[in-house]
Formats: sequence, structure tokens, C-alpha cells
Amino acid sequence: MPKNLIVYFSHAGQNWFDGGLKEIKVGNAKVLAEKLSKILEADLFEVETIKTYPFEYMECCDEAQKEQRANELPELKKYLDGIDEYDNIILAYPCWWGTMPQAMFTFLNHYDFNGKNIYPICTHEGSGMGNSENDIKKVCSTAIVHNGLAVRGSTVYECEDKLNNFAKNI
Ligand SMILES: Cc1cc2nc3c(=O)[nH]c(=O)nc-3n(C[C@H](O)[C@H](O)[C@H](O)COP(=O)(O)O)c2cc1C
Repeated sequence: MPKNLIVYFSHAGQNWFDGGLKEIKVGNAKVLAEKLSKILEADLFEVETIKTYPFEYMECCDEAQKEQRANELPELKKYLDGIDEYDNIILAYPCWWGTMPQAMFTFLNHYDFNGKNIYPICTHEGSGMGNSENDIKKVCSTAIVHNGLAVRGSTVYECEDKLNNFAKNI
């Protein structure tokens, strides 16, 4: 039986929903990661940075943009000992400035994904997957990167069909 790992980064706090700001207690990518872990009986790993991103949406956007422009790789609080035991790795993250948050790049740079299946899932407010699939292919050049699933953040509590269909291909 193949072994599945879900790695996610998600930001609770103020966020953009259908043209307005709203506060959320649990981030959208985290909601999807937890739902999918039940469907796939997958292990879950949260990517957490040592630094804290601002609660306010606009401030968080500024911080993330600065980080991206400088290609900073924020330090993570913890890592998995290894990923050898996993066949399939699902990456769940919000679209930040057209791609993954820099923290996901930190995580991906830390391991060798040779021969692993990678399945990206991106929450967004209009950009879909953005450039994230291409970026994953660049960082994990010897992995098999499958087509991603883009889910609008405001629909994470009602996307069971989409998620089940996606899970069937893993
Ligand atoms: C720093 C930042 C940058 C964002 N950039 C984009 C973007 O480029 N395109 C987009 O569609 N949504 C963008 N968004 C919206 C988020 O992708 C969307 O709200 C997502 O559902 C948040 O998921 P989360 O709650 O798991 O963090 C951005 C949000 C933040 C906080």
C-alpha cells in the first residue's frame, strides 16, 4: 500500500474573500489538508516558520512580497526526519503573489524528492495554481509532479467532490 504525506502551510487571520476582508481562525489550506488526510489516511506535516507573519492582510502581503523579491527562505520551526518512507507527497499552500509562500520553498529545498510523486493543492482568490506547479518542478526536478488542484479559499468547506475526485488519482 503506498504511503501518503500531506505537507501544508496556511495562514490564519485576516484574509481576502470574494472582494472583502474577513478574519478566519483556521487557514484555508489547512482545512483542505486535514480533510484530505482523512480521505487518504495520510500523515500530516505543518510547515511553520520561526518568524510570525502579520495578522493583517495588507501587512502580510507586504511582508510576503518583500520576502519573495529577496528570495528569502524563512527558517522553519521543525522538519521531518526524512521522507524516504513516503511514495506520494501532497503539498497544500495558499497562492502568495502568484506562487507558493517562500516557506514551502524552504521545505522543498531541504529534501531529495527523487522519484517521489508530488501532488500540489493551492488555495487562492483568483490566480488558481499561479506559477506554483512550475516552481515545484524546478525545485524538485527529479520528482514526478502531477497536475495540481486549485480551490478558491472561500469554498474550502464545500469542495468535497473536488477533493474526492483529486484523491482518486493519488
Ligand atoms: C501574502 C498573500 C498573498 C496573496 N497573493 C495571492 C495571489 O497572488 N493570488 C491569489 O489568487 N490570491 C492571493 N492571496 C489570497 C490567498 O491565496 C487566499 O486567500 C488563500 O485562500 C489563503 O489560504 P490560507 O488561509 O491557507 O493561507 C494572497 C494572500 C496573502 C495573505
